[in-house]
Amino acid sequence: MATIFDNHGRPVTYARLAVTDRCNLRCYYCMPEEGIHYLPKKELLTFEEIERLVRVLAALGIRKIRLTGGEPFVRTDLMALIRKIRAIGGIEEIHLTTNGVLTEQHVPELKRLGIRSVNLSLDTLDRERFKIITRRDEFNRVWATLQALLAHEIPVKINAVVMENQNIADLLPMVALTKDQPVSVRFIEEMPFNGAGAHYPVLNWTYQRVLNHLRESYSNLEKIKDEPHGTSYNYRVPGHLGTVGVIAAFSRTFCGTCNRIRVTAQGQLKTCLYDNGVLDLKKEMRTGASDQNLRAALLAAFRQRPANGWEAEGRRGTNHPVNESMSTIGG
Ligand code: 5AD
Ligand code: SF4
Repeated sequence: MATIFDNHGRPVTYARLAVTDRCNLRCYYCMPEEGIHYLPKKELLTFEEIERLVRVLAALGIRKIRLTGGEPFVRTDLMALIRKIRAIGGIEEIHLTTNGVLTEQHVPELKRLGIRSVNLSLDTLDRERFKIITRRDEFNRVWATLQALLAHEIPVKINAVVMENQNIADLLPMVALTKDQPVSVRFIEEMPFNGAGAHYPVLNWTYQRVLNHLRESYSNLEKIKDEPHGTSYNYRVPGHLGTVGVIAAFSRTFCGTCNRIRVTAQGQLKTCLYDNGVLDLKKEMRTGASDQNLRAALLAAFRQRPANGWEAEGRRGTNHPVNESMSTIGG
């Protein structure tokens, strides 16, 4: 399949699909505790619509799919969707982002289906802090999922959002976890996508500050190769099996190599995490667009991508501040 390049010369080869906006946790940086307005079910893309979209995207050169949410396993029969996507020609890699609460029982089948990697959202190794951050007492189930993934040798990345007054004490234990476990722990700058619009965080913990903090205890932290279109800057403590990364999600220093697009749970195309939705794919599909129409609309959107997250945020204007929940976007 020929690769499509965007208006900034970047290949577009990776699509992140949010399959639901619902979640069984309430991470405070993502959702308010109460008063969440979930989308009515009919506003979510159906699995048939998602499958169709992936076919059209594959024909446009998308090779890598990530299923995300909300929590993807809250959507019943997620595995059936994965099996369908797996059968689509041109899709070479399927990845999954999950909070791990409902995931453990599916790990053997994920392995059989050849899932390339799983990103586990886990901000702390401490059950009590987990309860405070996620407002649910589910640490043990998430931990069991991590163990199952490791036992099945599915590559795991742990995504931890770094939060002042919440999980700073977890940073070093999480680096320690990489000693004997082949996990990639990635510390993410907190972004303003918390659904409440209540706080636009002053970024206390930039990726540089996180690195400085780690280096106070691990002065031998060494830089290793980054993935070509990855968002993390990667490091390793010599002798450790796993790796450590930092993701400048707020600082947005990695946009120059961005190869990804997103489809939200309600079927909005985003060509940048920080944009406001640039194409209503659900509406297109439900008003009779042909595959050819979809293809043309997608292509047009790929050719108008903002250069970076700052430009995307700027284009939203002041009436649409960045305050939607990450659960609708899928991270
Ligand atoms: N800032 C940074 N990361 C976030 N995530 C969710 N909300 C935020 C936020 N406000 C992350 C989760 C998960 C991924 C889908 O997005 O930790 O790993
Ligand atoms: Fe759920 Fe992920 Fe949001 Fe936490 S960050 S509430 S696990 S969607």
